Amino acid sequence: MKLSIVVLAAGQGKRMRSDLPKVLQPLAGRPLLHHVLDTARQLQPTQLLVVFGHGGEQVRAATVGSDISWVLQAEQKGTGHALAQAMPQIPKDHHVLVLYGDVPLLQLATLEALLGKAGAGGLSLLTVLLADPTGYGRIVRDKRRQLRRIVEEKDASTAQRRIREGNTGVLAGPARRLNGWLGKLRNNNAQGEYYLTDVIAMAVKERVKVATLLAASETEVLGVNDKLQLAHLEAAYRARRSADLMRDGVTLIDPLRFDVRGSLDCGRDVQIDVNVVCEGKVVLGDRVRIGPNCVLRNATIGADTVLHANCVLDGAEIGAHCEIGPFARLRPGATMRDRAHVGNFVEMKKTLLGEGSKANHLTYLGDAVIGARVNVGAGTITCNYDGVNKWRTEIGDGAFIGSGSMLVAPVKIGAGATIGAGSTITKDAPEGQLTIERSKQLSISSWKRPSKKPG
Ligand code: UD1
Ligand code: CA
Repeated sequence: MKLSIVVLAAGQGKRMRSDLPKVLQPLAGRPLLHHVLDTARQLQPTQLLVVFGHGGEQVRAATVGSDISWVLQAEQKGTGHALAQAMPQIPKDHHVLVLYGDVPLLQLATLEALLGKAGAGGLSLLTVLLADPTGYGRIVRDKRRQLRRIVEEKDASTAQRRIREGNTGVLAGPARRLNGWLGKLRNNNAQGEYYLTDVIAMAVKERVKVATLLAASETEVLGVNDKLQLAHLEAAYRARRSADLMRDGVTLIDPLRFDVRGSLDCGRDVQIDVNVVCEGKVVLGDRVRIGPNCVLRNATIGADTVLHANCVLDGAEIGAHCEIGPFARLRPGATMRDRAHVGNFVEMKKTLLGEGSKANHLTYLGDAVIGARVNVGAGTITCNYDGVNKWRTEIGDGAFIGSGSMLVAPVKIGAGATIGAGSTITKDAPEGQLTIERSKQLSISSWKRPSKKPG
């Protein structure tokens, strides 16, 4: 069965009250539409089409994918009209699955079950039991529970409005048949729109099999119309990701205060405290512990490493048995080898900190290569920037950098060298020696503090 997936995304989303088109509003840091496309792609369709209208150029610019065929619906005349715009691009022998750019939590397994339900010749429709069906099209069945049609809320009778089985909008069917029915749609309804939902009654009339599948949860099929619903979906997304992780054995101190906005791979017995945010690709080794209020983006952390509270890691690669923070900031290109320590108010960028080396307090390490067992004293700064270019600092194994040292790059500190506290080092320091750069200490006995001027 060749599959074409059509994602309807032309609606404006007025209730968002935003300059950003609705389908670009972020869920877990990514546009709603991208979540839908991710799921769609997992079905490996022959064709993936997106019907766009409002904010079209913005939507296209924000969405990469050479696999997408963009279909313009210049005027929004209803869901049936939207799908009809895509049909000329779909070969007659394809099966068509309709998804929505603003329904981001739909699961792959649900769609697979839906497509399996009707077979190649029939229609399949995803429905949902709703506590409050307000706003949804209602699924009208006869006395034998056979599906008859879908009636939109605005066209429904009082009795029909009491039906709690709602239309999710997601449906699938053969292109050949959909083509015929879409051509026959009329807009003589309460909203003056061409309703995609009207194809159900047409199928029933022609005795084409229409299979329905009830969605497992209401959350999965929820659409987004305003910022309140967006926040609800964000919470649902958070709960789903947290539940998956806990099932895999990760300890989350509070699953409601933990956000994964990308991929997160965890080893065994990982423990994550509250208010942690993971973005991009994050990999945590066995027994890693993440303290409260940490933000991790594109970071790899080795086994048994501990991250104390309030650390921010972005593009960092951390070995095993390291200790970081509290209040450390590791920027892109920060690499820590096994058993290295970085303490409070330490910033690292494009820097390698060798095995067992320590920078425990108030330090900036940028564009530096630091060997093993180095001690970087409090307040050390690699002065890597001359206002125009960035320069490198190299520090050999076993060196000891005294507190308050300024290492003016480019500069090399030899293995086993010691730098006296408070030195401003502008020339290479040889191996194994003490290098010190400061004026001699003076005490002036005749010196007096200034006194206040009279009057
Ligand atoms: C639609 C269904 C309704 C269902 C509900 C579920 C119809 C007629 N009704 O109603 O049965 O219960 O979804 O949420 O299908 N769109 C376009 N072009 C258009 C109109 C809509 O691309 O001309 C897109 C929108 O961007 C949106 C989706 O289709 O993603 C649904 O449109 P919307 O107007 O929200 O339909 P509902 O009235 O909610
Ligand atoms: Ca809607």
